[in-house]
Amino acid sequence: MEKLNQLYEGKAKKVYATDEPEKLIVDYKDDATAFNGLKKGTIVGKGVINNRMSNLLMQKLAKEGVPTHFIEELSERETLVKKVSIVPLEVIIRNISAGSFAKRYGVEEGIVFDEPTIEFSYKNDDLGDPLLNTRHAIALKLATKEEIALIEKYSFKVNEVLKAFWASCGVTLVDFKLEFGKTCDGTIILADEISPDTCRLWDSKTGEKLDKDRFRRDLGGVEDAYAEIMKRLLDSYEK
Ligand code: TMP
Ligand code: ASP
Repeated sequence: MEKLNQLYEGKAKKVYATDEPEKLIVDYKDDATAFNGLKKGTIVGKGVINNRMSNLLMQKLAKEGVPTHFIEELSERETLVKKVSIVPLEVIIRNISAGSFAKRYGVEEGIVFDEPTIEFSYKNDDLGDPLLNTRHAIALKLATKEEIALIEKYSFKVNEVLKAFWASCGVTLVDFKLEFGKTCDGTIILADEISPDTCRLWDSKTGEKLDKDRFRRDLGGVEDAYAEIMKRLLDSYEK
């Protein structure tokens, strides 16, 4: 496998072509942003942690019937993935009120829902990733009705699997964001990453935040939180 030219640089990752047209290499950076890139910083070691964590969680999900882009971890920061065209929807699942949900509806953080919620936003930085419903997504031709139904099914399955796994680590899965992609043959698979950048993870006993909210909200101890959550994962993980 040969790493070729860089195709894209995002906020947290770079993407490279390879000598196989349907495979790409993702390279995880330590760069952190928040509020649509307004706040910028570095979380030392984040790229290594997010690469490993995302790969381990995606392998677990694949075993549970959620197809993912993961192929092979190549190095501390690099992973070989299936090439997809990203469905321009951010899918957010919530088990507990927090973040923009708490703000939008004027409720406190920490309300445990009877059932998980799902919401979509249009992945478009220029527009600030506006919230939309599934009919809007279909009208805008971001995905078909059938694709959205599958994305919803996979997203709730991801929640079921990850909620149980994080509970076994002494961690509460509050909410998370997923992105899906379409392979060259039109198959919908889970893409992007699953990491403390894209999930809210609270210590089950103390409620301590072990995710990127420490960076977003200037809570301090950001690197320590990433190291702690990785340690918890490795202590409980079996392939
Ligand atoms: P929110 O409460 O700010 O809408 O965030 C919900 C979840 O989505 C939270 O776990 C953080 C994650 N998230 C991202 O991964 N990327 C983003 O750009 C945003 C805004 C949130
Ligand atoms: N992806 C967001 C950004 O635009 C960061 C976040 O809040 O996760 O910078």
